Amino acid sequence: MSAEEYFNLYKKCVDVQSIQFTLEDFKRFTQSSNIKIIKNRNCIAILGLTDSEIEIYFIGVEEKFRGKGLGKELLKNVISFSKDYRACTIILEVGVNNKPAKNIYRSFNFKECGVRKNYYRIRPGFRQDALIMRLSLET
Ligand SMILES: CC(C)(COP(=O)(O)OP(=O)(O)OC[C@H]1O[C@@H](n2cnc3c(N)ncnc32)[C@H](O)[C@@H]1OP(=O)(O)O)[C@@H](O)C(=O)NCCC(=O)NCCS
Repeated sequence: MSAEEYFNLYKKCVDVQSIQFTLEDFKRFTQSSNIKIIKNRNCIAILGLTDSEIEIYFIGVEEKFRGKGLGKELLKNVISFSKDYRACTIILEVGVNNKPAKNIYRSFNFKECGVRKNYYRIRPGFRQDALIMRLSLET
């Protein structure tokens, strides 16, 4: 898929107030060996790769397809990719008020391991803390 196609899918999967990546970012992502994009039906995950850790930059499902199990399927694929990559951990940040995302991560056994105060700018004058969550892949 081209950077434009990924970007168009991303725009459908992200809530408008949370858009953080631009088409220029996707052009860089598709060229970078440190970024992996996983695309399933109507959903997308963007991962940052280091030697031993995978960072989930974003997972999202198109709004009209949410609540049907696609997020779970996508996260299973992320975990399976991370194990194949031989990463020790998966880490991510999620807004403290983002209940669906917190629930899905908890259901896959991600644990909360820190808070970044006032991390997300929701709209002018409003900020939201981010929870840092981590899944250990070591057995
Ligand atoms: C978070 C998100 C990816 C979940 O995808 P989804 O396809 O709707 O999720 P699923 O249908 O697979 O549900 C998986 C679990 O998520 C949680 N969940 C999903 N929707 C929820 C809701 N509206 N309220 C509370 N929990 C919810 C539940 O734990 C659910 O498991 P259950 O069905 O056994 O209760 C989706 O809501 C989304 O794209 N949100 C916008 C983007 C975003 O905020 N991404 C996270 C950034 S880190």
